[in-house]
Amino acid sequence: MKVPNHVAIILDGNGRWAKAKGMPRSYGHKKGCENLETICDDMKELGIKYLTVYAFSTENWKRSKEEVGYLMTLFRGYLKKCIKISERNRMRVRIIGDKTGFDRDIQESIQRLEEFSKDFDELHFQIALNYGSRDEIRRGVQKIAQKVQAGELLPEDISESTIGDFLDTQGIPDPDFLIRTSGEQRLSNFLLWQLAYTEFYFTEVAWPDFHRKELVKAIEKYNERDRRYGGVKEEGACS
Ligand code: FPP
Repeated sequence: MKVPNHVAIILDGNGRWAKAKGMPRSYGHKKGCENLETICDDMKELGIKYLTVYAFSTENWKRSKEEVGYLMTLFRGYLKKCIKISERNRMRVRIIGDKTGFDRDIQESIQRLEEFSKDFDELHFQIALNYGSRDEIRRGVQKIAQKVQAGELLPEDISESTIGDFLDTQGIPDPDFLIRTSGEQRLSNFLLWQLAYTEFYFTEVAWPDFHRKELVKAIEKYNERDRRYGGVKEEGACS
């Protein structure tokens, strides 16, 4: 089985999954968090080199105070635990999104984790936190405008690759395969620039139940498509 180089996942359905079990939403997030730990091991074993997950959007701050508070507690615990996971999998971890929106201690944990894992290269794991693609593009455009204003960049020299260099995903190859769990079929402001040529896969399975078997099933589908079209990356703009 040929595996995609870069898999992106929109983690969705924690709340509905918990509700279906008569449990609070927080229980769904806790189980979703646990699943994130095991999926990294699975990705590594399957030989996938890049994994990017959408864990907290710029919109998610609008959820109830209790839910946002619980998610921050989960992030705090996870960011610490992730040091061990990164070591185990020789995995480099980067956070994409606007980190300045988080409390100082969370920003410090992010910095520690990124620094600790920066030389690992067997798996590259990006976690989108306080992330919105339009916000990422806005921040990138601001930086480009500053360069132009400072006379360091000419407007006519702005290429597609210049824009890529000013996004949070700078240096990370675009995803080959996007998975969204739990039935919704939309992008919800995730990696709009980077997903231009990506294959999409939507499943009814909620994130806390999306284990290795489901991942393999998704990759098999990716393989079928890849065989049918002779490689998604060779397609032109009209494909
Ligand atoms: C989507 O389910 C999930 C989230 C908005 C939060 C994702 C968080 C985790 C998986 C927890 C762990 C993450 C990290 C980085 C530690 P939902 O609440 O939107 O579910 P619903 O659509 O069924 O309500």
